[in-house]
Amino acid sequence: MSYNIALNFEDGVTRFISCKAGETVLDAAYRQKVNLPMDCSDGVCGTCKCRCEQGAFDMGDEYLEEALTEEEAAEGLVLTCQMVPSSDCVVRVPTASTLCKTQVGEIGGCVAAVAELSDSSIELAVDLAEDVELAFLPGQYINIRVPGSEQTRSYSFSSRSGDKRASFLIRNVPNGLMSRYLTQAAGVGDSLTLTGPLGSFYLREVKRPVLMLAGGTGLAPFLAMLATLAERGCEQPVHMIYGVTRDSDLVKLEQLDEAASKLPGFSYATCVVDEESRHPRKGYVTQHLDPAVMYDGDVDVYLCGPPPMVDAVRRHFREQGITPASFHYEKFAPSLAAPAEEVAA
Ligand SMILES: Cc1cc2nc3c(=O)[nH]c(=O)nc-3n(C[C@H](O)[C@H](O)[C@H](O)COP(=O)(O)OP(=O)(O)OC[C@H]3O[C@@H](n4cnc5c(N)ncnc54)[C@H](O)[C@@H]3O)c2cc1C
Ligand code: FES
Repeated sequence: MSYNIALNFEDGVTRFISCKAGETVLDAAYRQKVNLPMDCSDGVCGTCKCRCEQGAFDMGDEYLEEALTEEEAAEGLVLTCQMVPSSDCVVRVPTASTLCKTQVGEIGGCVAAVAELSDSSIELAVDLAEDVELAFLPGQYINIRVPGSEQTRSYSFSSRSGDKRASFLIRNVPNGLMSRYLTQAAGVGDSLTLTGPLGSFYLREVKRPVLMLAGGTGLAPFLAMLATLAERGCEQPVHMIYGVTRDSDLVKLEQLDEAASKLPGFSYATCVVDEESRHPRKGYVTQHLDPAVMYDGDVDVYLCGPPPMVDAVRRHFREQGITPASFHYEKFAPSLAAPAEEVAA
């Protein structure tokens, strides 16, 4: 019996390690060449203090109060040298992955399919190399090197962790480097290099109602989250508001319907900004935030999309005094290496 432990480092890197029954997280990490911070390895110094965000474990009672106070333990802090998991866990490590002598892994794969779902969105399917076991948390992303260049672009998985075929939902940006490759050059079998997984935008343990706010291809990480919830089951209501600019930007509705059929607590609504649209719900996501889906603030909110959309929702929450129980967001910011002037011209 062993458990999968996701170690999330301060620089956004995630490493998965396997922890045997009865083994501490610290021992499991060192066995797999991840040098987590430690000193005494005996529950005395507190150097190995991390935060357990998900999962069940036993800490025993052989550590000192100076290393971890009762209040810290109640808040979810742990000593990895004492922590013996009894389920899969997610552990946040307050240091950079490079200091722990671990780095993001480079993964090989090849293009399995490229489908233009609309004039604004592309679905890319990638077959991972035979020897690759890629684990990620639902909501995380990976960097893909654009073939024929040294540049990379970040994409959130829309598929489930563990699938041999990973998928991505990608906006077709006019003149964009990756967009041009996908629409004009990509062919089945092309080699791809991916590095990751990365990111702190991932589905936490579902303890209360969840509200998902997706803008455009910001739908991608939610598809991964919903696939995971459908597999695991979910007792809490999950509602999504999926907003786009034009009617034709609405994609993957069949996948959302499928999620709704598998997850009785899941519902979604779409909205379209375009004035000319005949869609029953016009306008921005913020205009369709029914108080019923806010549960008087007792809700975990996940927000993902292009930067202006994410900023608008955050501003709306601030102005309306909305403070959800937890709030996680991801901005699909353009790469700093992107040629900004080209588009402006
Ligand atoms: C953590 C993270 C996760 C991401 N996940 C996804 C994802 O799942 N799906 C997805 O579609 N994108 C995602 N992105 C954005 C993605 O990485 C690329 O920026 C985007 O796909 C454009 O790449 P490109 O090479 O086609 O265009 P580029 O060559 O990067 O850009 C060409 C020009 O277009 C501008 N531009 C780029 N994006 C936009 C935009 N959205 N609106 C207006 N102008 C733009 C650039 O500034 C540049 O001037 C993510 C970004 C981050 C940081
Ligand atoms: S390494 Fe000292 S308390 Fe864990």
